[in-house]
Amino acid sequence: HLWDWLVSEAETYGAESGGFALSSPMRPPSVILTDPRNIEYMMKTNFDNFVKRHPDLEYARTGNEFFGHGIFAVDGPEWRRQRKLYSYTFSAKNVKDHMFSRFEALTDTLIKKIDAHIGRGEKFDLQNLFARLTIDGICSIAFAQELKSLEAEVAPPFVAAFDLTQFYSVSRGRDPLWKAKRFFQIGHRERDMRKQTKILNDFVFKMINVIRAGNYDKSQFNIVQLALDRAKASGTTISDQELRDIVVSFCIAGRDTTACAMSWIIYELCKHPKVAENVFREVDALKGTSYNDINNKTDYLQSVFFEAQRLHPSVPADQKACLKECVMPSGLKVKNGWLVAFHPYVMGRLKKVWGEDALEFKPERFAGGDRQYGEFMFPHFNAGPRLCLGKTMAILETKYVLTRLLRHFEFTLDDQTPVEYIISILLWMKNGLWVTAKRRNV
Ligand code: HEM
Repeated sequence: HLWDWLVSEAETYGAESGGFALSSPMRPPSVILTDPRNIEYMMKTNFDNFVKRHPDLEYARTGNEFFGHGIFAVDGPEWRRQRKLYSYTFSAKNVKDHMFSRFEALTDTLIKKIDAHIGRGEKFDLQNLFARLTIDGICSIAFAQELKSLEAEVAPPFVAAFDLTQFYSVSRGRDPLWKAKRFFQIGHRERDMRKQTKILNDFVFKMINVIRAGNYDKSQFNIVQLALDRAKASGTTISDQELRDIVVSFCIAGRDTTACAMSWIIYELCKHPKVAENVFREVDALKGTSYNDINNKTDYLQSVFFEAQRLHPSVPADQKACLKECVMPSGLKVKNGWLVAFHPYVMGRLKKVWGEDALEFKPERFAGGDRQYGEFMFPHFNAGPRLCLGKTMAILETKYVLTRLLRHFEFTLDDQTPVEYIISILLWMKNGLWVTAKRRNV
């Protein structure tokens, strides 16, 4: 498995030098950092020297149609402007007053769905259910629209288009001829990419028009209206294309990351019954599942969250490009145009960093929170000025949904379906998370 191979390469070659370089045909060298000091240098101290968009590497950008000029694809003033909008969006007050509650009805539906599976005595793919719940939640925050994909038998076209355009964007990276194929529309992938991109954009533009026209329930907080209000207050305007990029990036940021996090937590709880017992004890002791209960009284579940992220980071790898040749704190030299990657998957498993028991699942490591390790040793939510803005919300949302599920159900992994990773920008389980559930008699 590629990620595990990288871990062993990092243990062998990165231990002293703080990183190692990989080269592959038709791509610039890529340096994998394994030393927290180097990660700090790239993500904070020498922040402006490492960029998302390098002028010489435009040819390698495979996801332009999907990411557009959203926050994940831009640097400099454009990034700063969007970062301000998102920072405002994720104020503690907004998370508490407007976002938390969006997951209540969705979790009711999820519980009903699982009950129905139990009633029919069948196994089911919990990852798929989490992915539907999180896209419904994030879309309702993004544009006050109830997608109801969790209730549907088949995912709505927008959701399928969202998944497929992301998948095609990543898989282009493995095909040196993708640009020619896109231009001449050769092969199913490029033809479908065009079709799915249209479905995705048409839907998002339609939603933007609904909000612009004010044809929605005004008590529903949403990102599109927030962006419109902020533009108006500063005497500027904002185009539909800019709004589209903001909304799609918001969905990318908030949907898959949390669905992956929830799935890996359930997987680890199934594998570690003693840890599961501790979690059951904690969630059973709660008087209710209000914002305050979840925020203040689920510390053990929070440690489980971080430990599951350490071993199965939702974002397993990420990279930037170097603008000016430089020497990292460990002495590693990086040249202009090289890619420099920080690798939560690799960093989270290094014995040099986490000790001899690095590969064991031990939530107690995080009893003192994640900050005790520092953001450069545990860069799972990014670090420095581009630290993830949805971290608080992701933790709350995951803890809320799982608290409610685990007060009702106990899960068992289906031993017919192996749990494996997909090599992608997110750590999805390739075959899904197939489980059976039984009701707990609490
Ligand atoms: C387990 C859950 C999550 C993890 C592990 C995670 C991790 C990350 C990582 C690694 C980045 C850097 C990505 C890059 O620059 O290429 C990032 C950025 C970001 N995340 Fe999260 N994220 C999570 C959940 C969320 C949620 C739920 C939201 C909001 C709905 C969110 C909003 C953002 C935003 C807006 C950025 C861009 C920050 C910037 O570039 O300045 N994240 N996150």
